[in-house]
Amino acid sequence: MDGNGRWAQNRGLPRLKGHEQGSKSVGECVEGCRDAGVKYLTLYAFSSENWKRPAAEVTGLMMLLERFLDQKTNEMLEKGVQLRAIGRLDELPAPCRKRLDRAITATAGNDRLILTLALSYSGRTEIVDAVREIVRETAAGRVREEDVTPEFISAHLYTSDVPDPDLLIRTSGELRLSNFLLWQLSYTEIHVTPKLWPDFTKADLFAAIDDYSKRQRRYGGI
Ligand code: IPE
Ligand code: MG
Repeated sequence: MDGNGRWAQNRGLPRLKGHEQGSKSVGECVEGCRDAGVKYLTLYAFSSENWKRPAAEVTGLMMLLERFLDQKTNEMLEKGVQLRAIGRLDELPAPCRKRLDRAITATAGNDRLILTLALSYSGRTEIVDAVREIVRETAAGRVREEDVTPEFISAHLYTSDVPDPDLLIRTSGELRLSNFLLWQLSYTEIHVTPKLWPDFTKADLFAAIDDYSKRQRRYGGI
């Protein structure tokens, strides 16, 4: 979800206004996914690298997350959305963590759309955490060399119970992965839009899905 800062800057507003507007696009995108029958939506909301931003921006982003959870949990509950989160969640401030846990528990029975928030997330950290867990299991004598397969590694990632994404939508015209789902995106189709995240609408989501539907996925075959 990129481009909040530029959206604000273009209007002479503080960056936080861009993040505020961006959280409205989240609601729009979740609704659009439900309408389109998308089963899994994973939003890259806050990266491990984002902690490097000025403290005021980080605090503002965490407050927006709290507000989002306060305002949207009931709606998610009613609309069949199951909330999940991936990343080093123990690094989040306690009030965020509390609301997140509450929303995750409350919506656990839903299955219409699985909405995963990537928070304090990076693809490399995820792989590090997976390898550490595999080392622990190996030390305990539970892993043999031949057990290590792509499926085995997938099963040790934060996303063990989520299929690899079919489509990655990258906003604000950036042409990089920025440490997102590095392992899982191996054969994902990529749609890049110049739209800044706060300007991203349902129509943009449908356009991305339409673009995706025209792709020919060969997975290295012919
Ligand atoms: C939002 O966009 C991403 C978050 C960390 C929430 P940015 O804050 O990266 O916006 P730009 O790239 O400065 O425009
Ligand atoms: Mg950015």
